[in-house]
Amino acid sequence: MLDTKHIKSNFPILKTKSNGYSLVYLDNASTTQKPKAVIESISNFYRKDNANVHRGVYSLSEQATAKYEEAKEKVVRFIGAKDAKEIIFTKNATEGLNLLAFSLGKTFLKKGDVVLVSGGEHHSNLVPWQLASQIFGFTVEAVKMTVEGRWDLGDFQNKIKTLPVKIVSVAHASNSSGVIHPVEKIVPWIREKKALLILDGAQSVPHMPVSVARLGCDFLVFSGHKMLGPTGIGVVWGKKDLLLQMEPYQGGGGMIREVHLTESTWADVPERFEAGTPPIAEAVALGVAVDYLSAIGMGAVFEHEKQLTEYALGEIQKISGVEIYGPMDMISRGGIISFGIRGVHPHDIATICDTFGIAIRAGHHCSQSMMGVWKTEATARVSFYIYNTEKDVDELIKAIGKVKRVFQIKN
Ligand SMILES: Cc1ncc(COP(=O)(O)O)c(C=O)c1O
Repeated sequence: MLDTKHIKSNFPILKTKSNGYSLVYLDNASTTQKPKAVIESISNFYRKDNANVHRGVYSLSEQATAKYEEAKEKVVRFIGAKDAKEIIFTKNATEGLNLLAFSLGKTFLKKGDVVLVSGGEHHSNLVPWQLASQIFGFTVEAVKMTVEGRWDLGDFQNKIKTLPVKIVSVAHASNSSGVIHPVEKIVPWIREKKALLILDGAQSVPHMPVSVARLGCDFLVFSGHKMLGPTGIGVVWGKKDLLLQMEPYQGGGGMIREVHLTESTWADVPERFEAGTPPIAEAVALGVAVDYLSAIGMGAVFEHEKQLTEYALGEIQKISGVEIYGPMDMISRGGIISFGIRGVHPHDIATICDTFGIAIRAGHHCSQSMMGVWKTEATARVSFYIYNTEKDVDELIKAIGKVKRVFQIKN
């Protein structure tokens, strides 16, 4: 296990109280807390380095630009890629997926083509495709999910083989079931089809070693705020030869080569996809978050969450009346557990947990299609990170007991 005592001491918010109790933060799939180093990096940037990037010829602007570019270097190493020119900063994973849906849609897709997603996607990897399909005329198809929240691999292979699939866009790890999907199984089918693979890494990059080189994807998208960084910064990594062929997603300053009154030409990549002033302080702070995680080691982060999840799954399963959605075992899963208590609405579970200072999520988790598979409208969800401990799990278990008592659930 990680040295959580030391790690916790780096997170000011974890010293605060919530409803009179020490805060137990178990909503990390939603967003993570920030270490002092990240918080201070934002204030230091505005104190010492603030200027716009890629514009000024004066020293301060060059300094800000160097810091912004350095953040890209850190991110590119973190995800096992090589060229910082392949990193586009966006405001979050959602914007990254919109960028890909509209830019790839405009560049490569036509009526009759298919974009294949899974039936368990976060809405951020479904709705942008639906919107883009209305403009570019392609069709969105979804792979069936098992009740555990895993891809139905037979259906996956069959759809890739038989449909005119041009793009497969899927989550690497699920935000509702916690499943880590077997990307290595689908890559050969996608390559044979000469389709492109987009991975939504919002729930994988923060929690496990991720290497685009090893995964064999064409694009990877994730959010900074789910990996200790600030809100307002996300990442798209894409293969340069593809990015160079792609039309821009938004227009404005910074993304052009030449502008005439009726037409324009585009800058090189990644600037072509970063219209307007980017989130500069946020990018720099994301670089600091990457440093923090790298110092711990992503293998150690993954192991820590795995142990905690195993412990939590064991403890939750001892409580009668509690049902787990998603895998009950540790096979290919990360630190997210969706659950419910028969006869209690998940919002009531989360509200009662909150009275004990325990922050958990309740709802459809922006994954209504997965809720459909589970035949429920909502679940309660806990999700772990580097500062969580078995004691946090014990507090959760006590609170679940309290929920059952309040609602007089006997078994
Ligand atoms: C799997 C997955 N994809 C995409 C997103 C969207 O992330 P953001 O809201 O930071 O854009 C989330 C957020 O929960 C997610 O879990």
